[in-house]
This record gives sequence, structure tokens and C-alpha cells, in this order.
Amino acid sequence: MDLKSFISIVPDFPEEGISFKDITTLLQNGDALKYAVDQFAHMAKDLQIDIILGPEARGFIFGTAVAYALGAGFVPLRKAGKLPRETISESYSLEYGKDSLEIHHDAIQKGQRVLIVDDLLATGGTLSTSIKLVEKLQGTVEGVFTLIELMNLNGRENLKGYNVQSLITYP
Ligand code: PRP
Repeated sequence: MDLKSFISIVPDFPEEGISFKDITTLLQNGDALKYAVDQFAHMAKDLQIDIILGPEARGFIFGTAVAYALGAGFVPLRKAGKLPRETISESYSLEYGKDSLEIHHDAIQKGQRVLIVDDLLATGGTLSTSIKLVEKLQGTVEGVFTLIELMNLNGRENLKGYNVQSLITYP
């Protein structure tokens, strides 16, 4: 299946010059959504994953589905101030300023095998921050899977040494 054909390109969103990759047209098609999740699950089948980690917000969509397919647990990585219990956090740079991601301090046990799933690899800031948080909790990052990878932003450079795989690429 040509998954790319289900992505909508929206020029100048959210600001001028950005060509936004809208995944909602893929999500609303049952065959395409199932195919994408099945692909992720197939790529993960030999990794013996205990936990899927999904960054807010779009990482929740694919992350939970892949967790269900694998019979693994799901852990949300949230933006600052959203998780109710004790957290650890890691800040990362945005185009303008800084933000941080948080995880519950007991979300991952030492030695658990973790797969990070998100919709998009752009600069790699979100995923490298996700990796840091997993490793702070002494989990092992067995894979980093995204639906879309924007090659021109070289996000992979920030994820060197990890098993990074994407289903759709844009040059
Ligand atoms: C988007 C996307 C990825 C991240 C990729 O999320 O869903 O998580 O950006 O960009 P990066 O590789 O440059 O870090 P966003 O922060 O917009 O959050 P949202 O899903 O809540 O809209």
C-alpha cells in the first residue's frame, strides 16, 4: 500500500513556508491505519518489546495501537505539567525557546525493552529527548519508529546508534 498517498500536504501551515504533513487523512482510512500499525508491529516482532513510549500528542495514536498489537504496555510522554504523579523531565530546544517532556518516574523498570513510536521525525529533538528519558529510567531503547521522516532536516543525526525506521520519507 502507498501510505504516502494518504498524507495531505498543507502549504504554509502553521506558518508561511512550512509544508505541513497532515496525517488525519491517513488516520480516517481504516485500511491505511491498519496497514501502518501492522507494518510497525511487523518491524518490532523480534525486538521483544515490553513498553511502547509515545510522545504527546500524535505519538499516542500510533503508540497505543502498536502496543496493543504487540501485547506490550504503553507509556505516554507528556508536555510539562500534565502528569499527576512524580515525574522526571528533560528540556529540549524549539525553533524559538525551550519546552520540556515528562515521564512518570516509575513508568519504566530497569532493563525493560522500549520501542519509541511517533508520527514524525523532523529535527529529532522530540525523539532524542524521549531516548534520554528512557535511559534515565534505565530502560533500553530497542527501536525508534516513525510514520514520516523529513530527510532534509537530518533528524537522524541526533539519533545515531539507534534503530531508527520510518514508513514514509520526504526528501
Ligand atoms: C510534532 C510531531 C513530533 C515532533 C517532531 O509534535 O508529532 O512529535 O513534532 O519534530 P522534531 O523531530 O523536530 O522534534 P509537536 O511537538 O508539534 O506536538 P503535538 O503532536 O502535540 O502537535
